[in-house]
Amino acid sequence: MTDVTLDAFLAACRQLAEDAPARIDRAATPAEFADVRTQLVGRKQGRLADLMAQLATLPPDARREAGRAINEVKADIEQRLDAREAAVAAAARGAHAIDPSMPARRRWQGSLHPVTLVIDEIADIFRELGFTIALGPEAETEFYNFTALNFPADHPAMELHDTLYLANDTLLRTHTSPVQVRTLQQYAPPVRVLAPGNVYRRDFFDATHAPAFMQLEGLAIDEGISFVDLKATLSEFARRFYGGTRRVRFGPSYFPFVEPGAQMDVEVDLGDGKGTRWVEILGCGMVHPNVLDAAGIDSERYTGWAFGMGPARIAMSRHGIPDIRVLYDSDVRFLEQFAR
Ligand code: DAH
Repeated sequence: MTDVTLDAFLAACRQLAEDAPARIDRAATPAEFADVRTQLVGRKQGRLADLMAQLATLPPDARREAGRAINEVKADIEQRLDAREAAVAAAARGAHAIDPSMPARRRWQGSLHPVTLVIDEIADIFRELGFTIALGPEAETEFYNFTALNFPADHPAMELHDTLYLANDTLLRTHTSPVQVRTLQQYAPPVRVLAPGNVYRRDFFDATHAPAFMQLEGLAIDEGISFVDLKATLSEFARRFYGGTRRVRFGPSYFPFVEPGAQMDVEVDLGDGKGTRWVEILGCGMVHPNVLDAAGIDSERYTGWAFGMGPARIAMSRHGIPDIRVLYDSDVRFLEQFAR
């Protein structure tokens, strides 16, 4: 390598500094920037690398100034390269820039049905009161659906026009009460169960009835259970579910599988402008001794109470919904109000 003078070296540095901007400004793509970068300030080849090699051949007393000059040129070129490359990249992004004022596209998210949410909430309350979940079949026998529940043989509920019969003596259960009998056949008292499930009736679909709907059955059997326990437990349920201020009342009612039989009403505003009214949300009563006997439970020793409620009616009473049919509709605009 031929020796260079300090002046010649400084001149070469200036020349590089002068040539660089035009080269840099011609680059437009990432590949072009990489090329220019190598040509100008590459460590192993290119013009800066050549100058570095010359630096070592300068007389020792000249190297200091030469080193400062070359470092300045290198820093300038790199800064210019970085700035221009960033500007070109930003301009490219700008071609399909994001508009931050656009409303975000919402992620579609499913949720549980309002009736399911009500069932879950009721199940939580009864779980805290010591109840466990029990299930029974939807295709049920006459024995469990009617006979064991103390229905007399000519009870109107058993008529063809009220019940959907399947083959032989099976039918689509008209209520969840048969789960009482199945549970008592399987478990010895003390028993506390909550049985949710679908039930079926030959009913017209109107504002307050659906031919297939959910029920929640409750059963508590033990020694020494009285009507006081029934009233206290169901009142406590209402207090927890509706909050302390909602009024509830009990009144007499008839079901063949309880004696005495009752119903519980809650005061609700259905939001139809007609003010508040009493809505029956469940039937209940002391389990009839004939039911205990049919299930093989000693009715001299054990007593208990039961209830059956319709969670769709309860959802209506909770949310002020005047027509049950909207709960069976798939109109997402209605349903998604209840999404959690
Ligand atoms: N099974 C009744 C019905 O479907 C509801 C019912 C009433 C259930 C009283 C009960 C009860 O357990 O004690 O209409």
